Amino acid sequence: MADAKTLDDLFLDTLKDIYYAERQLVKTLPKMSKAAQSPELAAGFQEHLAQTEGHVDRLEQIFEMLGKPARGKTCDAILGILEEGKSVIEDYKGSPALDAGLVAAAQAAEHYEITRYGTLKTWAEQLGLGEAAALLDATLKEEVATDEKLTKLAKADINLRAA
Ligand SMILES: [Fe+2]
Ligand SMILES: [Fe+2]
Repeated sequence: MADAKTLDDLFLDTLKDIYYAERQLVKTLPKMSKAAQSPELAAGFQEHLAQTEGHVDRLEQIFEMLGKPARGKTCDAILGILEEGKSVIEDYKGSPALDAGLVAAAQAAEHYEITRYGTLKTWAEQLGLGEAAALLDATLKEEVATDEKLTKLAKADINLRAA
């Protein structure tokens, strides 16, 4: 008989998923910053790298609250998104549409994070983990703000140059 897994198990597994994803992003954001042609976009990626290190830190705090070791679990979704980003960098190197492609790749990652943090926050509330919910909400707000900033950058400049 399959063991009866509960929301606690799902919460922990999903925490491991986003922990893996955030650590991948810590590795990838410097490459995206380096690839960006627009100085604002490059700076934006650097800024989000610093935030992302904070996201890893918050997740480690939550693992500690749960009395569990901070461990990642391979997240195929983020690997796929980052693989697509890598293709954009290779395929659009030196072309006017590169930055627009980088913004699109970054927004795909942000939206993945937003869906994960939204779900985890809701589950933390349902599980009575108020402190964890507050930490997840703090990160969620930064992901949403980053996504909005990327949209503004794209509209202001990058898409115009790509056109
Ligand atoms: Fe993040
Ligand atoms: Fe992010």
